[in-house]
Amino acid sequence: MQHAGNNFNIKVNDIIVRYNDEGPKEASVIIFIHGFPLNKSMWDKQLKSLKDDYRVIAYDIRGHGNTDVGAIDFSIDLFVNDLLGFMDALKIEKTIICGLSMGGYIALNAIENHSDRFTALILSDTNCTADSPEAIEKRMNTIISIKENGVEKLANNLLPNLFAPESFETNSEEIAAVKEMIVTTSKQSLYNSLHALANRNETCSKLSGIKVPVLILVGEEDKITPIEAARAMNVKIRNANLHIIPHSGHLSNLENPYEFNSQLTKFMATVKPI
Ligand code: MLT
Repeated sequence: MQHAGNNFNIKVNDIIVRYNDEGPKEASVIIFIHGFPLNKSMWDKQLKSLKDDYRVIAYDIRGHGNTDVGAIDFSIDLFVNDLLGFMDALKIEKTIICGLSMGGYIALNAIENHSDRFTALILSDTNCTADSPEAIEKRMNTIISIKENGVEKLANNLLPNLFAPESFETNSEEIAAVKEMIVTTSKQSLYNSLHALANRNETCSKLSGIKVPVLILVGEEDKITPIEAARAMNVKIRNANLHIIPHSGHLSNLENPYEFNSQLTKFMATVKPI
């Protein structure tokens, strides 16, 4: 079977998962988990930058990109179960994991509950708290708005929160690509994911139990998961380092890939090979 390449399919639980898998098969593995409502292509620049030295895998979460929606209600626990099933299907016993925002919620839940499967963690533009009642209400209003006004309107509302103001001058290609990711996500998946995000549990109370090395990255102008959220996690995780990524908002890996990748590479050099 061909190992390295893009857009492979694999059966995981009740769905077919689409994924990219690059780099030497025997190298340490890093699995990248995207944010909402995006897909695996948001990690293209990280895969390209690391693939000479690591086996780098990015997959589409259930209902995103080209992965099936399935017939089960979404939850972060289900996404974690999919991640573990995906690792089993690829025969990956242990991995380094990198999650951005919703991907970070999944990564934190996974590592706190299945610590034996993960050897290092990269948390990007994410947090460990559950939604406040106001945030839950906002998500439910977003569902109503998608039903009334469509997905294009959702994308136009999300973009100014996802990107730093300066990215609208300097990063129009990335903004167009992210807009495309949002408008091509099915409405059913958007509704399901908004419910999953609204119902997720906090992961802050178990942060002190994380024993693997952790890198925390956050865009200096992240409005969705701001620097304070990253600092709060950094204080609670024993073995963590925090770096603020300049010239970026919530999508720091896309807005400043140079700095993001450079921090990632430095961190990876400190992680013991699996
Ligand atoms: C994300 O980027 O995954 C979302 O902004 C997460 C969220 O809405 O909590």
